[in-house]
Amino acid sequence: MTRVQDLFGSALPPDDPAPLYLRLQSRIKAAIDAGALAPLAALPGEREIAETFGVSRVTVRKALSALVEQGLLMQRQGSGTFVAQPPRKMEQPLSRLTSFTEDMRLRGLTASARWLSREVSLASPREAMRLSLSPSDTVARLRRLRIADAVPMAIECATIPTRYLPDPESVETSLYDALAARGALPVRALQRLSATNLAAADAALLDTHAGAAALEIERLSFLEGGAPVEFTQSFYRGDAYDFVAELNLRRE
Ligand code: GLP
Repeated sequence: MTRVQDLFGSALPPDDPAPLYLRLQSRIKAAIDAGALAPLAALPGEREIAETFGVSRVTVRKALSALVEQGLLMQRQGSGTFVAQPPRKMEQPLSRLTSFTEDMRLRGLTASARWLSREVSLASPREAMRLSLSPSDTVARLRRLRIADAVPMAIECATIPTRYLPDPESVETSLYDALAARGALPVRALQRLSATNLAAADAALLDTHAGAAALEIERLSFLEGGAPVEFTQSFYRGDAYDFVAELNLRRE
């Protein structure tokens, strides 16, 4: 028996009316669901699969790319097709004002960041409106890929008035630690969540496919006295995050 037959079973029955690529797709999915192919395992080559099942390579490619779309497989240029590793689902309470670093620490994970850009610039009209600045005020902009134990979780773009963060280079892993060190830790925030689909470049950073489901989160945070200190737009991988809200019955 070949490795392909071992993993995906023997020949596809000729009397089944479903298209070949769909039948092949469900064989591959069944092997993943059953654990015969573990996360990060390499699939046999396209040619081997095509020859074993007596189908064309186009059919094999069609079956594989549908599974890539569904997030079950990933393809690396030149090195083949692998089983995707689903990130651990994180639950985030909706009512506590926490930082990414703290959220991860509470789950026993180590937060890190890959810098995508950091700069000081004049506030854009949108930033000036959000942060109650005048157009001549400057802001620090930090764009980071947020990572939990080597798994990319979110892309975050934070804007902070330079009066609270004059030097974006002073941020190491945690923005909130840097703000706390300057006595500018936010104490209240408004947060908006919406569903979105990732553009190709963001999807590549988050190790997923273009169009994958994501959560877009905007946070506007305030200091004790009510002054806005942070406006952040984040894209969290949809398969990695769950938000939990605590609801209480109001008794008069
Ligand atoms: C969360 C929030 C961001 C905030 C960040 C700070 O991810 N969505 O608005 O800027 O935490 O996290 P850290 O202090 O780890 O940089």
